[in-house]
Amino acid sequence: MSTQNLPLKGIKIIDFTHVQAGPACTQLLAWFGADVIKLERPGAGDVTRSQLRDIPDADALYFTMLNSNKRGLTLDTKTPAGKEVLEKLIKESDVMVENFGPGALDRMGFSWEYIQQLNPKMILASVKGFSDGHHYEDLKVYENVAQCAGGSASTTGWWKGENSEPTISAAALGDSNTGMHLAIGILTAYIGRQQTGKGQKVAVSMQDAVLNLCRVKMRDQQRLERLGYLEEYPQYPHEMDAFKDKVTPRGGNAGGGGQPGWILKCKGWQTDPNAYIYFTVQGHAWEPICDAIGKPEWKTDPAYTTPKARQPHITEIFATIEDWLKDKTKFEAVDVLRKFDIPCAPVLSMKELLRDESLRKSGSIVEVQHPVRGSYYTVGSPIKFSDLKPQVTASPLLGQHTDEILGELGYSKDQIATMHAMKVV
Ligand code: COA
Repeated sequence: MSTQNLPLKGIKIIDFTHVQAGPACTQLLAWFGADVIKLERPGAGDVTRSQLRDIPDADALYFTMLNSNKRGLTLDTKTPAGKEVLEKLIKESDVMVENFGPGALDRMGFSWEYIQQLNPKMILASVKGFSDGHHYEDLKVYENVAQCAGGSASTTGWWKGENSEPTISAAALGDSNTGMHLAIGILTAYIGRQQTGKGQKVAVSMQDAVLNLCRVKMRDQQRLERLGYLEEYPQYPHEMDAFKDKVTPRGGNAGGGGQPGWILKCKGWQTDPNAYIYFTVQGHAWEPICDAIGKPEWKTDPAYTTPKARQPHITEIFATIEDWLKDKTKFEAVDVLRKFDIPCAPVLSMKELLRDESLRKSGSIVEVQHPVRGSYYTVGSPIKFSDLKPQVTASPLLGQHTDEILGELGYSKDQIATMHAMKVV
């Protein structure tokens, strides 16, 4: 909560979410000014408060990094008194976001039909593993399950050798990515409501959100079925067997677009697991690449002058660049290559990112004060505005704002005390 006049100020959101997918969505909206009320079960709260704790009895970083800028309300919504509070909240709010297992909200008595009766302007936003009507719609889903169901795992990793099984990405493609899609859906429904006066249900499935980011692999599948090979994959042209079943193969660290690329070793790789750069052989940058790596003769050699001519030699080209890299750290290498306008970057470790001065300066990594755990670092808004600099504030303690929120709903001090005594809040 900031003193700035933030664009989403005045939008009231019931944040009935847990773990990562839902909280990432509502946190984004809270950064931009929405009043986000994190609704949790009394006593326990979101499971991430206690998962992977690094300080005894303090909310875990898993929770604090996904729930900043929110207010905290505890409420047992399965009790009659708790249901009544939720009904009041629904009547006064604009959006309710949830990511419970399939059917949980209905079982609690808050079907979409009932929510609409309570507040026809309400936008109900849901994350589920699979979309409504999907043959797996009943499944509960976590991150890695979604990565497998959405096409990411089958297309990530190595295609041969000991570790050639489908591979999970460390990026939260199933969780936070789905939350970001949902945030776009909520804002779209909100703008739609300004035109129609009516709310609507917005849903994003984790499978769909992963698939949306894997669209280039679906492009490749269709090309493969038509052509029988994928010329930019490392298997082409020396391992054509990889294409015989016409299933998009895993491509290791190959570039996903029309530019061949690979992760290359730099000085110190023997002891530093991240002493690498990503190097892209962009078509029109071929001549600068030859100059940068000391191979001017490749500029006129017909075996190298076009992307098609280079493809059979791509492994040899990368090996030559790696030889050039062997006496340069990843940072030194990038400093040379940037002068030649070659698309590249060091492989950065989490340790390096956490200490990166540019990320601190831009607000992409911020330091936050928390009443129990002290100071910690978290990600700030990756979206930058010219007239808005979102301030990240601490996540709420369990039930921190319960009395304040119940007071705003019109409950008296005595009624609130009774709810505490009955463990409704
Ligand atoms: N008061 C009373 N009951 C509450 C409550 C509250 N404040 N908050 C939650 N509950 C209840 C729910 O009503 C539900 O009860 P029910 O199963 O008896 O109907 C239960 O707590 C939560 O169930 P569920 O969401 O299924 O939790 P889970 O721990 O078994 O499963 C997930 C966790 C993430 C697998 C599941 O929620 C899911 O598949 N969510 C959708 C996909 C998703 O978002 N996954 C990624 C999370 S990062």
